[in-house]
Amino acid sequence: MPERPLADLILRDARVVTQEPRSGVIERGWIAARAGRIVGLGTGEPRVRGSARAVERRVRGRVVIPGLVDPHTHLLYAGRRYEEFVERRAGTPYLEILKRGGGIHRTVAQTRAASDAALARLLRERIARAAAQGTTTLEIKSGYGLAVEEELRQLRIIDRVRAEAPIDIVTTYLALHALPVGADRAAFVAAAGRAVATVAREKLAERVDAFVDEAVFSVSDAGVVFRAARRAGLAVVLHADQFNDTGGAALAARSHALSADHLAAASDRGLAAMAGAGTVAVLLPGSALIVGYTPPDATRFRKAGVRMALATDQNPGTSPLEGMPTAIALGVNLCGMRPDEALTAATRNAAAALGRERVSGSLRIGKRADLVVLDTDDERDLAYRVGARLIREVYAAGRRVAG
Ligand code: NIG
Ligand code: FE
Repeated sequence: MPERPLADLILRDARVVTQEPRSGVIERGWIAARAGRIVGLGTGEPRVRGSARAVERRVRGRVVIPGLVDPHTHLLYAGRRYEEFVERRAGTPYLEILKRGGGIHRTVAQTRAASDAALARLLRERIARAAAQGTTTLEIKSGYGLAVEEELRQLRIIDRVRAEAPIDIVTTYLALHALPVGADRAAFVAAAGRAVATVAREKLAERVDAFVDEAVFSVSDAGVVFRAARRAGLAVVLHADQFNDTGGAALAARSHALSADHLAAASDRGLAAMAGAGTVAVLLPGSALIVGYTPPDATRFRKAGVRMALATDQNPGTSPLEGMPTAIALGVNLCGMRPDEALTAATRNAAAALGRERVSGSLRIGKRADLVVLDTDDERDLAYRVGARLIREVYAAGRRVAG
C-alpha cells in the first residue's frame, strides 16, 4: 500500500464542494494540504499523515469551497465619487457624466494626486478586505492614469504590493479606459499601444484590457492595443458592450480574449462567437445594480453556451461594492443564475477567465490549497441569505489569511 502523504493542514468532517465534475460534493469530507498544495481529499477519516506541526480542524456542519476568484477589479484608486453616485441615481446617464469630464476623469485626477505610499496603503487595505470576504485570487487593473508614465507608476505600485500580498494577484494593464479631455484620439491610442511593450518587458501585467463602448473607444482602437499585446506575449480581455452593443463581444472572440466582461448589451451573435472561441463571459451585476441599467441575463449566456464568471468590478464609479459573496448574490437575484452556477462562476470559471484554471478555482490534488470554510451547511446561502456573514475561515496556499 502506498504511504499516506504528509499534510500540514487538514480540514475534516465538512461538506466539501470541489467544483470538479468527478468529485462533485463530498459529504463528511476532508481535504489536506502540504506546502500550499492540495495533497488529498475524500470522505470519512483523512488518509494522510499529519506533519509535526499540522493544523487539523474539524468543521462539522460547515461547507468548504474553493477560494473565491474575483477576475475584474479596479482596486488602485484614490478618492470617492459620492456626488456622481447621487446624480446618477437621480437619472443622469453614466456616459454623459464621463463625456463632460466627470466619472473616470475625476478618479484619474484624485489618483494622480495621491502619493505612491498612500496608494499602496489603500491597495493593501482593499486586498485584505477582499481576502476577508473569501477572495484568494484577485485581478487588479490599472486605468486611472490615462498617461503612459502615470499608468506605469500605478502598475509598479500594484506590482510591489502584489509581491507581499497574502493572496494571488493578477495584474492587468487597462490601456484604454477613457480619452483624456482634449486629447488626440489616434495619438493617445498609439501611445497606449507602445506602452504595452514596456509593460511586458518590466513584467508589470499579464493582460491588456480596453473599454469599448459608444463615445469611449471603438473596436478598431482596441485592435491597436490588442495587436501590441499579441506581439508582447500578453493575454487580452475587454470591457465589452456594457451600455451599448458596439461589437465588443465579437472582437473579444476574434482576438481569443480570455474574457469579455460586462456584456449587458451584447448581441446573441456576439455571445455565440464567444462560445465558439472559448472566451469566458465575466458578468458584473454590481455595476448594473449601482448604475441602474438592465443587468446581463444569464438565460441568454446559458443558451449561447458561453462559460459565465462573476466579478465585483470593484471601482469608485460604477461598482463600489465589496466582496465576491455580494457578486454571487447578485448573479442569482439580478441576473438569473442558479445558485450552483453562480458558485462555479465565482470559482472555477473565474479562474478560467484569468488563465488560472490549472492552479486554482477548484479542489483537486496538486492545485493550490485556496480554501474557504463557510459558516453554514448549505452553500446556496451565499445567494439566499444576502448580506449574512458566511465567510468563516480563509486559507490561501494553505495559509490562514482571514477568519
Ligand atoms: O468596469 N466601464 C468602465 N470601467 C469601469 C468603471 C470605472 C469608473 O467609473 O471609474 C467599469 O464599470
Ligand atoms: Fe471594469
